[in-house]
Amino acid sequence: MKMNIQFSLNGKSISRDVPTHRLLLDLLRDEIGVTGTKEGCGTGDCGACTVFLNGKPVNSCLVLSGELDGAEIVTIEGLKIGPELHPIQKTFLQDGGAQCGYCTPGMLMMSKALLDENPNPSEEEIRFALAGNLCRCTGYAKIVQAVQDAAALLRNR
Ligand code: FES
Ligand code: FES
Repeated sequence: MKMNIQFSLNGKSISRDVPTHRLLLDLLRDEIGVTGTKEGCGTGDCGACTVFLNGKPVNSCLVLSGELDGAEIVTIEGLKIGPELHPIQKTFLQDGGAQCGYCTPGMLMMSKALLDENPNPSEEEIRFALAGNLCRCTGYAKIVQAVQDAAALLRNR
């Protein structure tokens, strides 16, 4: 069954007729062409597809389009502050928090969610917050460092 949904994507108003069972991840990538959000597992286990839905991080591979009417969605493309990279993006670059980069959009969105709630997280709190985001490359230490450095940058703004 198709339905018309209207939602905000990175601050832009979007209207689409979509099958209600289409996954948010597929809607973003295949229908709208916003491809920063990645598909890893497709089953809610890797976090690569994390986006913000109404201000909260979700696995977009588990969200149906039928739930999106009136929603506010932010993807990695919406993380920048004006023309500038977000501090989290800067520190991931600076600290080597990204290698192949496949997990990075999801890591960044989940890190932002953490820092929005907790501006000064401990290493343990960072590791706990990112436990659902899998990375096959970095060994996580540089990711943790990048989140700590981003937290410091954000606190000193
Ligand atoms: S692709 Fe969605 S959690 Fe892995
Ligand atoms: S940087 Fe390659 S999976 Fe994380």
